[in-house]
Amino acid sequence: MQAIGYYNGEYGPLEEMKIPMLDRAVYYGDGVYEATPTRNGIIYALDAHIDRLYRSAAYLSITVPMDKQTLECELKRMVALMDTGDNVLYWQVSRGTARRAHPFPEGHANLMMMITPYTFPDLSEQVRCITREDTRFLHCNIKTLNLIPSVMAMQAARERGCYEAILHRNGRVTECSKSNVHILKDGCLISAPADNLILAGIARSHLFEVCGHLGIQVVERAYDVRELMEADEIFTTSSTSFIHRVTSVDGIAAGGRDSARFEALRDGVWGRFVKATDI
Ligand code: PDD
Repeated sequence: MQAIGYYNGEYGPLEEMKIPMLDRAVYYGDGVYEATPTRNGIIYALDAHIDRLYRSAAYLSITVPMDKQTLECELKRMVALMDTGDNVLYWQVSRGTARRAHPFPEGHANLMMMITPYTFPDLSEQVRCITREDTRFLHCNIKTLNLIPSVMAMQAARERGCYEAILHRNGRVTECSKSNVHILKDGCLISAPADNLILAGIARSHLFEVCGHLGIQVVERAYDVRELMEADEIFTTSSTSFIHRVTSVDGIAAGGRDSARFEALRDGVWGRFVKATDI
């Protein structure tokens, strides 16, 4: 099944879709987005993603061009158009369409959606990461389209045969280019606090929920690269990649010392997804 695109009410094969040059997403990245997997026609954690989209938009004073319920219907309509079960659904809202000028223009925001078939990752795979100075801005809690530092960090990781780049600000670990990162130490889960330096991932909140079920204490606090390297386990989470165990950082063996707890967390995160999307 081919991928499908949507722009302000129009649908078509994704590769054939066009958006106007004057959409502010094109020249300012002036918009917000969300992405989540679908399975069996069910959009995973839809309410949480819709709520975060509206929160991100509100931070930027962008008015989403429809209410939450209507957006939910539009997203579900996209999924219903696909004949495959496993997909990733992406949607973004840009501030609007106007000639280039920094102040906000008159007029309505633009909604764009795309749905693409997706093969879920093999979560038993162990991955390697690099570290990178976090050169992003100070609004990382808002899921904006401005992703150049993330793109550069991910490319650097891939050029070194690695899965992700673990970002840090002057040694303080924040997150990865497109996922959150967490460590296990002495049986506790340690995760960077949900401040303006990270995106509070929805998979991160699912992970915390699973920790609750397993009796694993969650400590949200700053930690540095040295602590990361000495952790019992290191792993990433995101909606589309779920959870990945990191066993090498900058070419040095790391983590991999609390398999039982990590595997219980991994099974919990995946099991939660399967349960929510089973029919
Ligand atoms: N990225 N941190 C960053 C910087 C991200 O871009 C993402 C998600 C996450 C994890 O958030 P969540 O658990 O809600 O997916 C954390 C998406 C998948 C992307 O950009 O494709």
